[in-house]
Amino acid sequence: MMVAPSLLSADFSRLGEECAALEEAGADWIHFDVMDGAYVPRITIGPVVVEHCRRWSKLPFDVHLMIDHPESQIEAFRDAGATTLSVHVEAVTHIHRVLHQIREAGMRAGVCLNPGSPLGRVEPVLPEADLLVIMSVNPGWGGQAFIEASLGRIQQARALRDRLNPKLDIEVDGGVNALSGRQCAQRGATVLVAGHFVYSHPQGKRAAIAELR
Ligand code: DX5
Ligand code: ZN
Repeated sequence: MMVAPSLLSADFSRLGEECAALEEAGADWIHFDVMDGAYVPRITIGPVVVEHCRRWSKLPFDVHLMIDHPESQIEAFRDAGATTLSVHVEAVTHIHRVLHQIREAGMRAGVCLNPGSPLGRVEPVLPEADLLVIMSVNPGWGGQAFIEASLGRIQQARALRDRLNPKLDIEVDGGVNALSGRQCAQRGATVLVAGHFVYSHPQGKRAAIAELR
């Protein structure tokens, strides 16, 4: 089980130090929530922030694009030091092509699925992906409640992975805490993203990460 804390709940005036602190606290990856104010209402960060954070941590950077036209930013995030780049299947016209573009740029390719989209939308491209992100909240905000129906979708995703791409990572993103995280892991998730749970944990980030793992 890999734990990828999301910076969305971190102090945005100190993101470099926050990355170093997550590495120190035992995170496996660091999850960057990129929002453009168009695909989702909030605006967060762009490639230049990822580039500057790159100097503060050696961990893999798991970059989640909640933006329109994500294919236009592939090279910029590659140059900034992204390890994995995930795009929403709902935000692109040619998802098969975009996943190949991400891989050709030298990154791991992720495809994200919103709570309202059927698993069938990504089934055809799972062999072309390194990561499937099951959104367990509606994208755009941290600190939301876990959508229980996600559990059945994780189970469906595991069956698809076993049949189509056994190396595929299944990431769950949104509302993950100790309870929902365990339920996700039991159904086949391999990566847990958590923002609010990590940053609000009474015993701190290291305890939160250890609890999720
Ligand atoms: C929401 C983001 C998630 C979210 C996770 O649009 O994709 O990564 O920030 O944060 P929590 O764990 O606070 O739901
Ligand atoms: Zn995310």
